Amino acid sequence: MNILIKNGALVSPEKTVFSDVFIRDGIIERIGKNIQVPEKNCETIDATGCFLMPGAIDPHVHLNLPSGQGFSSDDFVSGSKAALLGGTTSIIDFVTPKRGQSVYDAFLERKKEAAKSLIDYKLHVSPVEWLPRTAEELERCYYEEGVSSFKIYMAYKSSIGINDGAILQVMKTVARLGGIVTVHCEMGNEIDILRDQYFKAGKTSVKYHALSRPPEMEAMAVKRAIDLAKKADCSLYIVHVSSRLSLEHIRKAQSGLQPVYAETCPQYLLYTDKKYQGKFEQTAPCVMSPPLRKRADNIALWQALADGTIQTVGTDHCPFSLEQKKAGLSDFRKIPNGAGGIEHRLELLYSYGVLKKKISINRLVDMISTQPAKIFGLFPRKGTISPGSDADIIVWNPEPARTISAKSHHQNADINIYEGTNIYGQAKYVLSKGMLAVNHGKLVKQVKGFYLYQKAE
Ligand code: URP
Ligand code: ZN
Repeated sequence: MNILIKNGALVSPEKTVFSDVFIRDGIIERIGKNIQVPEKNCETIDATGCFLMPGAIDPHVHLNLPSGQGFSSDDFVSGSKAALLGGTTSIIDFVTPKRGQSVYDAFLERKKEAAKSLIDYKLHVSPVEWLPRTAEELERCYYEEGVSSFKIYMAYKSSIGINDGAILQVMKTVARLGGIVTVHCEMGNEIDILRDQYFKAGKTSVKYHALSRPPEMEAMAVKRAIDLAKKADCSLYIVHVSSRLSLEHIRKAQSGLQPVYAETCPQYLLYTDKKYQGKFEQTAPCVMSPPLRKRADNIALWQALADGTIQTVGTDHCPFSLEQKKAGLSDFRKIPNGAGGIEHRLELLYSYGVLKKKISINRLVDMISTQPAKIFGLFPRKGTISPGSDADIIVWNPEPARTISAKSHHQNADINIYEGTNIYGQAKYVLSKGMLAVNHGKLVKQVKGFYLYQKAE
């Protein structure tokens, strides 16, 4: 089946033009005005009044993530369905081995689990220790499985975080391979001391989660990661930047032409630490690391998105149920970290970024699709509406007004940190590899997702 999308406003990072798009066998064949095709075997979608955008890529999701309180509540099926309904057609999740486990075996296990996804997927691989065999295992992931991005945690030192010596080893190995290292920047040891100090002083409620992870601890880690990456000559991608202090280090590195990329998430653009005032049921859903910051940080992050200091917006999708969060009722350290958002990224950024004139619609496409594709080696197969690219396309209707609620969302969780938030616009149609997966905002076809292998150089 071929598809012709007519009369849409095609948005790229550079411009918006009225254009038809013709898709044959899952691949974009032609774009241009007034495309005429034989009617046989061709379905026409009328996109009058809508924007056409390349399928969004979420570079940071945790589906079925093991935690001390069980798994995060969206698995690859429910999470990918919710993603699709929000316009996301590719995700990058993580391989997090257990200490002592072979990184390559952990990769194979996770790849098998991810095969249930209804959208295409890639995996960042996280070395959680440095052993004599680790370099060889990372090479195997790179050469045999096309893994090009590796994630390091500077936080969570007792479980998955690694120290500076190990970080440098990972960075040197990845630099040699020509890949990129992504880093969760928070000073793990210092934060652990602060957390325990608060707890021992009887300060056990949710707000101490945020107070024990101050912005200075993020900025210090950002600077450390930048310095280590420079020493290793390694490309660096800093995940979920939440603080304006971190941006100063990122800007300085970028102005010195160091390859440093940055990601933020909708929650850090839209919310502040006021979310930690109130009852447990209201505050615990927003327990995440790094925590929510101040209004000045929101403003600085929007500015950094507009001026290009931050390249991408991911979600760090990692929802838990209220019951799971309740494990930390009397000890904030036990609340599982993370919140959902895989379904809402585009509608939130459109409503609170584009419509509020903080970013253009072209910049929106760049940060949710084109930049993640370029940084993680998926471009031009993904991240663009161009001849030869996969036909992952969002037909975005800017009109509908809705309110986000856990009662109506498609994420598998009984809570939603955006509960009650008004949004404008909806993914009216979503095409995944040329198949109409979402029609009038409803999932109509379960397309199989494929592992995105990036050819090693
Ligand atoms: O709180 C968060 N961010 N949870 C997900 C895991 C991580 O640290 O990225
Ligand atoms: Zn994360």
